[in-house]
Amino acid sequence: MPKVTFLPLNKTVDAPKGETILEVALSNDIPLQHACGGFCSCTTCHVFVKSDPSQLSKMDEDELDRLESVGKLTENARLGCQTKVMGDVTVEIVNLDE
Ligand code: FES
Repeated sequence: MPKVTFLPLNKTVDAPKGETILEVALSNDIPLQHACGGFCSCTTCHVFVKSDPSQLSKMDEDELDRLESVGKLTENARLGCQTKVMGDVTVEIVNLDE
């Protein structure tokens, strides 16, 4: 089963293939914000992909538009609620829910 490591918590958890980063976070008590409930309309679930971007689903138009609209579209930026895990990845949470 793929594994996701969440920084800066440095917590590694199992991730059923095809689940989103947000789903994996929530089922493992990782405090990833999700103000819109995972509907690609808030960007609070913003993460930076540290490795390996090829193990994630491709970015679709909605995600791209959302990140672009708030000036957060960078090479390794993704929305946790839109990004499916296909293999081992490490992501850094931008907005820790504390
Ligand atoms: S939870 Fe709102 S965009 Fe991902």
